[in-house]
Amino acid sequence: MSNDPIGIFDSGIGGTSIFKEIHALLPNENCLYLADSKNAPYGNRSEDEIIQLSIKNAEFLIEEGCKIIVVACNTATTNAIDYLRLNYDIPFIGIEPAIKPAALNTQTKAIGILATKGTLSSKLFHKTTDLYSKNITIIEQVGEGIVPLIETGQLDSKEMQSYLETYLEPMLKQNIDYLVLGCTHYPYLIPMLTKMLPDNVKIIDSGRAVAKQTQTVLTALGLLNDALDLPKIELCSNGDIAVLNSILDYKFNVSYVDF
Ligand code: DGL
Repeated sequence: MSNDPIGIFDSGIGGTSIFKEIHALLPNENCLYLADSKNAPYGNRSEDEIIQLSIKNAEFLIEEGCKIIVVACNTATTNAIDYLRLNYDIPFIGIEPAIKPAALNTQTKAIGILATKGTLSSKLFHKTTDLYSKNITIIEQVGEGIVPLIETGQLDSKEMQSYLETYLEPMLKQNIDYLVLGCTHYPYLIPMLTKMLPDNVKIIDSGRAVAKQTQTVLTALGLLNDALDLPKIELCSNGDIAVLNSILDYKFNVSYVDF
């Protein structure tokens, strides 16, 4: 059981930013990453569609014998994790935008959040913002168009630059000092965003916190892998595996799956 893989899924290749954090913190763990790139983006889909796609991904990982599932997608977490937890016995770890640390530390009393429409319109997101928005302004921005560009290998493109300029403008006008990345595809934009933002604006995402939470839950359940062999890391996608390969730092085992 403890040497079964950690299952990780996302609508596409973005959740690899979370896989990288998990692999860095828990290098001994076997991991199976599933990219549902064929159905990306999830961000503009209805809650019901997101739940159905999340069920399909979770069942794939359960059938592959995973011991825990990390929903490495803010859109799937905020719309579907309650359903998954109610209907499957396996433990689930989710990811939500890091509103809390930004709201508690902002000096300018203004923070920006870039996420998908599905995340920003979810009940779970509203519950969090209601808690932390008392004395601060939260500028919410849908990152329309960003995920399709990343999924088609156009991370460093003129179109991307122009989307980001448009999306950051209202935030900078309101003098934000934190930018919360509320989609697991967006950490790949950090080099570009850093060049575009003033020095006092900090960019935060939830990747490290999710890896730590995975470690905490595995420890509590006695499921940390204690085998000393090299970990088995597998990534699979029902989309273009060349794009998935291109954002990985190492040559992992990447394969195409038809699901
Ligand atoms: N990477 C996902 C997220 O964290 C989903 C993006 C999408 O498919 O729209 O929200």
